[in-house]
Amino acid sequence: MVAVRVGCFAEFGDATVMRVEHRADPGRPRASQLLVAVEASSVNGTDLGLRRGDLPPVTWGRMPFVPGFDLAGRVLAVGPAVTAFSPGDRVAALLPHRGGGLAEQVLVEQDRAARVPDEVSAADAAALTLAGLTALQALHRQGRLRERTGPGGRPARVLVSGAAGGIGSFAVQLAALEGAEVTGTTSRGKVAWVRDLGTHRVLDRRAEDLDAQLADAGPFELVLDAAGRSRHRELAPHLAPGGTVVSVRPLHPDVLRSLRPGRADFTAVRTAARSADLAHLVHLVATGRLRVPVEHVVRLDDVAHAHHLAEAEGRGKVVVDLTA
Ligand SMILES: NC(=O)c1ccc[n+]([C@@H]2O[C@H](COP(=O)([O-])OP(=O)(O)OC[C@H]3O[C@@H](n4cnc5c(N)ncnc54)[C@H](OP(=O)(O)O)[C@@H]3O)[C@@H](O)[C@H]2O)c1
Repeated sequence: MVAVRVGCFAEFGDATVMRVEHRADPGRPRASQLLVAVEASSVNGTDLGLRRGDLPPVTWGRMPFVPGFDLAGRVLAVGPAVTAFSPGDRVAALLPHRGGGLAEQVLVEQDRAARVPDEVSAADAAALTLAGLTALQALHRQGRLRERTGPGGRPARVLVSGAAGGIGSFAVQLAALEGAEVTGTTSRGKVAWVRDLGTHRVLDRRAEDLDAQLADAGPFELVLDAAGRSRHRELAPHLAPGGTVVSVRPLHPDVLRSLRPGRADFTAVRTAARSADLAHLVHLVATGRLRVPVEHVVRLDDVAHAHHLAEAEGRGKVVVDLTA
């Protein structure tokens, strides 16, 4: 047995509770598992919420808890039932709800992984996985973007609230790739950055006349609350007839009850580990059609700093390098 390093927290709190520990390696892969030598794992809003103690208690009984919901690395060994991968393959993978990706070695089911070509870096592949899958599935599965157009066949108008975050920064690009007219909201200092991602219109979410600006940009066939922080009653008036709001957070039943009688439909995305979706995203990156907005790559020893950066900046992606 070999000791491997993990990033973890033993108590809820600010970024300073993050630390590095040594654990026993995860052992041989069984059945359809891959053993991956992790090169990169990204910091997602979910990691930050869990560390603060704000999210449902997947951490209960698991302290010190190892967060990390995505990873990229190289397959070290495969279980006897693995058909799709071999040792040496470069892969990205989505971890299940118990996390654990922020570790030098991880066991993951083969159907949660996709192959990564040499032209896509491990940092980009890791940063893409949870946030990109969530954006893709919110737009296309929950939001059915491909079926939507505006009156007279004009392109669908899509509003992404929280457009500078991990999910939001992929969502604005993926919606634009589909031909939609994309409006994003973010805080003032990030407006230019979100515009550079190819967003047609970017609004300061704290502007006094935001409602008037949204009325001017809309109505929207699809609204994605990519930060899970929007006041949904305020978005509803900006929806086109038949429009949908997709949120990254489940809506409280009371909120749902108060909204459904109107013309709007509200739904929440629950990210699914679909290899085909991940392979599609990796292909978009490899062919230069999707940019992975990695703002910082931080070594594992500085994992507390990685969490601090992700929380303080809330712009694009922060990646932890597990090879350094
Ligand atoms: N449903 C699922 O399966 C699923 C999967 C993954 C993640 N999530 C959830 O999705 C959320 C976002 O994840 P992420 O990784 O994209 O997070 P992130 O990278 O940390 O981004 C969060 C963004 O929220 C924006 N924001 C902060 N306060 C806001 C407010 N009051 N109104 C609107 N925007 C606000 C921030 O930018 P500005 O302040 O500039 O706007 C920031 O860009 C997290 O809560 C996470 O738990 C859900």
